[in-house]
Amino acid sequence: MNEKNSLGLDKCFLETDEPFELFDKWYEAAKKKEINDPNALALATSSKNNVPSVRMVLLKDFSKNGFVFYTNLNSQKGNEIKENPSVSMCFHWKSLLRQVRINGKVTPVQNTVADKYYNSRAYESRIGAWASNQSSVLNDRQELINSIDKFKEKFNEKDNVPRPDHWSGWNLKPDSIEFWLDGDNRIHERLKFLLNSDGSWKKVLLSP
Ligand SMILES: Cc1cc2nc3c(=O)[nH]c(=O)nc-3n(C[C@H](O)[C@H](O)[C@H](O)COP(=O)(O)O)c2cc1C
Repeated sequence: MNEKNSLGLDKCFLETDEPFELFDKWYEAAKKKEINDPNALALATSSKNNVPSVRMVLLKDFSKNGFVFYTNLNSQKGNEIKENPSVSMCFHWKSLLRQVRINGKVTPVQNTVADKYYNSRAYESRIGAWASNQSSVLNDRQELINSIDKFKEKFNEKDNVPRPDHWSGWNLKPDSIEFWLDGDNRIHERLKFLLNSDGSWKKVLLSP
């Protein structure tokens, strides 16, 4: 079966009035096809001086309310988001020859939601959230290992490691979502959804 035509944008353009259903279809296809991390996305933030920065993070939840990732709130990205909540996400599913770009503003996820996700993580990962001052300079690797040992001693009950205040999730509420599908001879297909002020979505085809 031709993968492209099975979810071709022309068809979706006619059938889909909102982007989440289409994202869900593509994401499910990516989960089946990608060897690693179908939930990996490039996250672009911008400093208060308008200097952009991009890095990979993992999508941990998505719904009509938004797209959620978790991180250290005092990291470079965390500090940039606090100064400028407008961010951009880009998924590239190589095996499907597809890209999705999502733009909007992020807000912190609720503490109860962050706690639930944090508590689902492996003990070492929860300790790592305490031990690593993400994006700060290390004198050497040993400094981090010592910090991990210190927090393992402090939180030695595996089922009782509280979530640090500096580690939580952000929810990107999109105001635009663009789907890109590889076409022959670089005549790709692009479908962009733009959020209207009444909460409905306008959709347009873009030239590749
Ligand atoms: C595939 C992949 C997934 C990643 N997922 C996350 C993530 O979910 N959260 C996170 O904080 N860092 C994640 N990282 C590490 C980030 O890319 C980055 O190195 C780190 O967050 C520090 O970024 P910053 O200095 O811009 O804040 C991931 C890296 C890769 C390659």
